[in-house]
Amino acid sequence: MSRGRRRHVHTLNVELRSRSYPILIDAGLLERTAVLNSHVAARDVLIVSNTTVAPLYLPALSAALTPRRLVPVILPDGEAHKTLGNLSRILDVLVANRFGRDCAVLALGGGVVGDLAGFAAASYQRGVAFVQVPTTLLAQVDSAVGGKTGVNHPGGKNLIGAFHQPDAVIIDTRTLTTLPARELRAGLAEVIKYGLMGDAVLFAWLEGHLDALLAGEPQALAHVIRRSCEIKAAIVGRDEREQGERALLNLGHTFGHAIESATAYKEWLHGEAVGAGLVMAAAMSQACGYLSAADAARVRQLVERAGLPAHAGDVGSQTLREHMALDKKVKGGRIRLVLLRGIGSAFMTDDYPDEALQSTLAAYSGAPR
Ligand code: NAD
Ligand code: GLY
Repeated sequence: MSRGRRRHVHTLNVELRSRSYPILIDAGLLERTAVLNSHVAARDVLIVSNTTVAPLYLPALSAALTPRRLVPVILPDGEAHKTLGNLSRILDVLVANRFGRDCAVLALGGGVVGDLAGFAAASYQRGVAFVQVPTTLLAQVDSAVGGKTGVNHPGGKNLIGAFHQPDAVIIDTRTLTTLPARELRAGLAEVIKYGLMGDAVLFAWLEGHLDALLAGEPQALAHVIRRSCEIKAAIVGRDEREQGERALLNLGHTFGHAIESATAYKEWLHGEAVGAGLVMAAAMSQACGYLSAADAARVRQLVERAGLPAHAGDVGSQTLREHMALDKKVKGGRIRLVLLRGIGSAFMTDDYPDEALQSTLAAYSGAPR
């Protein structure tokens, strides 16, 4: 941490021994020259961004990071561009500019840019420094922390990738002022997930403060970003490579990924599919006798109040089931699910009655949203 800072920056640590790193959270960090420079050590920095985010934030970031060699790569916007082709494009720019092993790759954008830039940092010269500057709520509460990087393959989402932890995550909460409302709601799905998975106090706080969050109230947003990062940092510190506990972060995602892939990643935002997936995970937990009807109703109400879908829409239940069978958590042909014993208490199991899964899928799919 730099000395002589005038304003306190809220800082958390992801504890991974020699690969530990800070998460800095504050409004206006993109303009804090001293803070930025103390966390970006390299002289040569490749900044990966996209056509939406770069015009908004690249000028301020570049001004704050001088003097050093900054080379931007501006990608087209959208999940459809999280491809091997764009990974190759980033690597080409690194090579063309003769960036050495002591360079850094910096991601300025949402989860798409972060995943791509991180994979480029993981693979260039077998791994160079990486800095995350996430600008969506989803990336600030989830994807920028934890070191999962990668790209999509026509055969599946995030099929190609690597674990590569960043050297710092710099969260300027003021970037959320330009985020479209639909993207903000998608990010809230991951925040609800954290509460539901492991923090009943956070879940109850969300029930009480959802309107402030939806209105973009800065203090409410800062609170959920900090708490979400605390939860994720602690889990990643204990289980970096998802050998156990980290899989609980996939609550709602087995259903959600199935919705996304069944609709070819074109209709649903990731967070929207997670919202519906959380409702389905709660309904499945109720069908198995683990969760009370009252708690399942609380989940559904919060998701709906957040403006997120609570139903898989017109995707058929058989189609959903087929897509769930492609999930990375399938073991020995059996779909493993993250279920709930209560609000704030998730667990992973493959021991559930098939009828419970069938009835949940039938109840939450196959009709208009
Ligand atoms: P995204 O990166 O596509 O960003 C959403 C939209 O918001 C884009 O159009 C983007 O250009 C725009 N945008 C970004 N910041 C903005 C700002 N401040 N103002 C205005 N517009 C802005 O999507 P996302 O929801 O951030 O991330 C989704 C991706 O993250 C998916 O590819 C998903 O697989 C991945 N993901 C990764 C992890 C992980 O652990 N690595 C976790 C969750 C999700
Ligand atoms: N988003 C789930 C994880 O990072 O493990």
